[in-house]
Amino acid sequence: MQRWTLDIDTPDWQSAPEAETACTALLNGELVAVPTETVYGLAADATNGKACAKIFQAKGRPQFNPLISHVSSLEAAREHGVFDAQALTLAEAFWPGPLTLVVPKKKSSPISDLATAGLETVALRVPAGPVMRFLADRTGRPLAAPSANLSGRISPTRAEDVIADLGSSLSVVIDAGPCAVGVESSIVGLIDGPPRLLRPGGLPREEIEKILGRPLQNASPDMAPEAPAAPGMLTSHYAPDAKMILNAHEASPEDGLLSFGPDPLPGAASARAEVNLSPTGDLAEAAANLFQAMRTLDASGVTTIRVQFIPSFGLGEAINDRLRRAAAPRG
Ligand code: TXA
Ligand code: MG
Repeated sequence: MQRWTLDIDTPDWQSAPEAETACTALLNGELVAVPTETVYGLAADATNGKACAKIFQAKGRPQFNPLISHVSSLEAAREHGVFDAQALTLAEAFWPGPLTLVVPKKKSSPISDLATAGLETVALRVPAGPVMRFLADRTGRPLAAPSANLSGRISPTRAEDVIADLGSSLSVVIDAGPCAVGVESSIVGLIDGPPRLLRPGGLPREEIEKILGRPLQNASPDMAPEAPAAPGMLTSHYAPDAKMILNAHEASPEDGLLSFGPDPLPGAASARAEVNLSPTGDLAEAAANLFQAMRTLDASGVTTIRVQFIPSFGLGEAINDRLRRAAAPRG
C-alpha cells in the first residue's frame, strides 16, 4: 500500500507522480482510498465489475448493496443517469457538494451491475472534494465509492482511520487531511413519484426543500428491509464498540460522554472521558467531529457512551440518524 500525503493548496498537485500511480491503480481494477468533503471513500472503477467486487470483499459487506458512482461534472453524470427537471435543478444548485441523486440508469451507461446491485437506477454524486473529481476526470471512469470502513463500523474522516480498517486491501491511500463535512452525503431519490430523502446527510433537508419548492418525502415504508432503497438506512451501522445511550440526562464517572454545546450535563466534569462535538453548539462543526469523537471515546476504553441531546434541524437530522444507528441493537 502506498500512502500519498497531499496538501490540496499546493499548486499543481495533480501533476505529482502519485496522481499517476492512483489513476493507474484504478484503471487496473485496484482499490484506492480517496478523501471527499464528506468521508473517505473506498474507490474502484464503477464500470469494472471485478473491481467493484473487491469493494464488497474488502469491506466485508454481507450483501451487495448498491454503491454511489462519483463523477467529475453534471455533464459526466448525464452519461449514466436520466435527469428530469427536478434532478437538474438539484444538481445545478448543489453540485459539486454533499448530495447524491438516485435517478433512472441510462441503458447505455457502462456502470457495472455490481455497482448498482442490478437495479435500474443509479446513485450519482459530484463531490466537492477535488481529489475524487480529479481521479474520475483523469481516468475517464465513474468511481464507485462507499465509505472506506469495514461494514458496520464508524465511517472514516481521516486517512489513519482508513488504514486501520482497510490498509491491507488498498493499493493507494490518498491522505488530504480530515474531511470538512464529516457525515456522508444526503441521498435524494428522483425515480417516480415525489422526491424522497433516502438518507439524511451532509446537505440539510431544509436547503434541498427550499430549492425544490416542496417538502421531501421520506423513504417509503414499502421499502422493505430485504430490498431497501438505501440500506445505509437500516438498523445498526456506524457502530463503535461501546454501547450508546442517547439523550442522556446526566453523565456518569464510569461512562464516556459525548457532549454538545456550551451547557454541560450534570456530572460532566467527572465523566471518564469526554468529547464535546461543538462547544459553541454549531451543528456543522458537530457533524465534522462526529465519527472521530466516537472513535476517541471508544479508544478510551469505556463500555458505554452517553450522548447529550442534539437538536434535529439542519445537519442535526443526519447527526441524530447516525447516532440512532450507532445505538441500535447489534445484529
Ligand atoms: O458521502 C458519501 O456519500 C460517501 C462518500 C465516499 O462519497 N459514500 C457513501 O457510500 O456513503 P455508501 O456506499 O456507504 O452509501 C451508499 C448509499 C447506500 O445506502 C445505498 O443503498 C444507496 O447509497 N444507494 C446506492 N444506489 C442506490 C440506488 N440505486 N437506489 C437507492 N439507494 C441507492
Ligand atoms: Mg458507509
